[in-house]
Amino acid sequence: MKGIILSGGSGTRLQPLTKVTSKQLLPVYDKPMIMYPLQTLLSAGIKDILIIVAPYHAGDYLNLLGSGKEFGARFAYEVQDKPEGLAQAFIIGENFIENDNVCMILGDNIFEDNVSETIKNFKSGGHIFAKKVSDPERFGQVKFDASMNAVEIAEKPEIKISDYAITGLYLYDSQVVEAAKAVKPSARGELEITELHNFYLQKGQLKVDVLKGEWIDAGTFESLFKAGELARKKNATIT
Ligand code: G1P
Repeated sequence: MKGIILSGGSGTRLQPLTKVTSKQLLPVYDKPMIMYPLQTLLSAGIKDILIIVAPYHAGDYLNLLGSGKEFGARFAYEVQDKPEGLAQAFIIGENFIENDNVCMILGDNIFEDNVSETIKNFKSGGHIFAKKVSDPERFGQVKFDASMNAVEIAEKPEIKISDYAITGLYLYDSQVVEAAKAVKPSARGELEITELHNFYLQKGQLKVDVLKGEWIDAGTFESLFKAGELARKKNATIT
C-alpha cells in the first residue's frame, strides 16, 4: 500500500494566514496541520508516502518533513502546478503508485477515528469514509439507501442529496490511475475525485464507511479553530 498526501491549493479562504505559509502547514494546536494526516498514514503502517504540494512555500515541506527517515518512512515529493483537482493526484503519482493499492489523504483533513485496521485490510476496489455534517454544501455527498448502501454520489450539488459528507481519505486499487486519466474537468475546471468514487460505485466495487468520531476539513477560519480544539482534547486524553 502506497500513501499520498495531497497538500495543494492556494488556501485563499485563509488569507492573510496563507500569504506567509501553506494552508496545510498552519499550526493546529501543537504542530503543523499536515502532521495529523501524516500520522493517519504512518499508524496504518504505510512507509512509502508521496507528498504533493503547491509551488508556493514548497521548500517549507522539505524543511519540516525531510526524507521521512525521522518517521521510519520514505517521502517523495511532487508539485501540483495548479489546483486542477484531487483526481489529478493519481496522474501526478502514476510512477510512484506502480501497480500497488493507494491510500490518499488530504493535507487539511483531521480524523479522530482510528482507521488503521481498515487501511491495512484493504484489498481491492474503492473504500471511502463519510460523516454526517451540518454543512454538507461544502463537500462531496453520498446518499445511502435504508440498508446504508451508497446509491448516489455528487460533488457539492446545488440541491443537497444527503447530509453525509465524503471525507478526504480514499483507498483505491491501481485501476485508479487509468480512471483518473479518463476524468474530464468539471465546471470549476477541476478533475473531481467524486468521478473516481462513481467509477467504483458503478462497478459495484465501492465501500463506504460512516465515521463515528470527529472529522474536520480545516480549510476555513472556523474549522481551523475547531481543529485546534480537537487536537488539544486528543492530546489531553493521551497524556
Ligand atoms: C474536496 C472534495 C470533496 C470532499 C472534500 C473533503 O473538496 O472535492 O468531495 O468532500 O475535499 O475535505 P475541496 O476541498 O476541493 O472543496
